[in-house]
Amino acid sequence: MDLKIIDFYFFSGTGNTLLVVKKMRDTFEENGITVNLHKIEGSTPDEVNLDHMIGLAFPVAVFSTYPLVWDFIESLPRAGGTKIFMVDTLGSTSGGIVGPLRKIVSENGYNPVGAMEIQMPSNIFFIQDEKTNKNKVQKGLEAAEKYALDLVNEKAEWGRVPILSDAVNLFSRGTLKLTGVDLHQKLFLFKVNKEKCNKCGICVGICPTRNIKIDGGNYPVHGLNCQYCLRCTSFCPKRAIPCKFNYKGKTYAAVKAKEFLKIRNL
Ligand SMILES: Cc1cc2nc3c(=O)[nH]c(=O)nc-3n(C[C@H](O)[C@H](O)[C@H](O)COP(=O)(O)O)c2cc1C
Repeated sequence: MDLKIIDFYFFSGTGNTLLVVKKMRDTFEENGITVNLHKIEGSTPDEVNLDHMIGLAFPVAVFSTYPLVWDFIESLPRAGGTKIFMVDTLGSTSGGIVGPLRKIVSENGYNPVGAMEIQMPSNIFFIQDEKTNKNKVQKGLEAAEKYALDLVNEKAEWGRVPILSDAVNLFSRGTLKLTGVDLHQKLFLFKVNKEKCNKCGICVGICPTRNIKIDGGNYPVHGLNCQYCLRCTSFCPKRAIPCKFNYKGKTYAAVKAKEFLKIRNL
C-alpha cells in the first residue's frame, strides 16, 4: 500500500468543508504526501483506488449528513485494510455521526485511522456577523492543520463514540430527501423569487444533484431531488432564492461561487 498518496473525497454545500479540505491538502503536501481531491457528487465509488489512503469530508446536516454522502460511502468497494479517515464540519453539534460511519467502513474492510469534527460558522439559522465568522474559520483551519499533522504522524484516532441510533439517522436522512408530502415540500422546497432573479443560471450549474432547471428562458425551478445543502441560496448573486430557516434572510458562503464551478481544477 502506498501511503504517500491520499485520495480525498469531499462534499461541501457552502464552502466550509472545502476550506478545511484545502487546508488539509496543503498540510499533507508540505509533508511530502500527494493528495488527489475528488468531489463526492462527481465520483463513482467503484473507481476508488484501494491502494491509496482514503479521506472523506462533508458537512453535518440534521445531526447526520447528506444522503448523497451516505450513498457514496455505503457504495465504497470492499477493502482489505485500506486506511481511511474522516473530517466533518459543523455549526454546533453533530449527534455522533462519527460512530455509525466507523461501523460502516470497518465492516467493509477499511482501517479507520482518524476522525475529527471541526467547528465552522453555521450556514443556516442564526448566521453571525462577518467578523465572528472570520474568527471561527481561522480557528477551524488551525484545527484542520493540526488534524492533518496528527494523521501524518499517525497520532490521529477514530474514537469508539456511541453509535447514533438508527432511528435518528433514518429521520435525518429522510428529512433531507424531499418527498411528495405537502408539508415536507412547504418546509423545504426552494422557490425562486421572480422579482429578483435575473436568470443567470449559476444555481443550475452549482446544484450537486442537478435539481434546478431553466426551461426555454423561464425562471429556474427546483425539482424534488434537493438535499438542502444551500448552495443555490448562498451563491445566488441576486439573493433570489430565500432559505426559510435563515434569520432575517441572511445567507452564508465561505468562498465565491466560482470555486464550486471550477472545482475540478482545485
Ligand atoms: C440543512 C442543514 C442542516 C444542518 N444541520 C446541522 C446540525 O445538525 N448540526 C450542526 O452543528 N450544524 C448543522 N448545519 C450547519 C453546517 O453543518 C455547517 O455550517 C457546515 O460547516 C457547512 O459546511 P459547508 O459550507 O461545507 O456546506 C446544518 C446546515 C444545513 C444547511
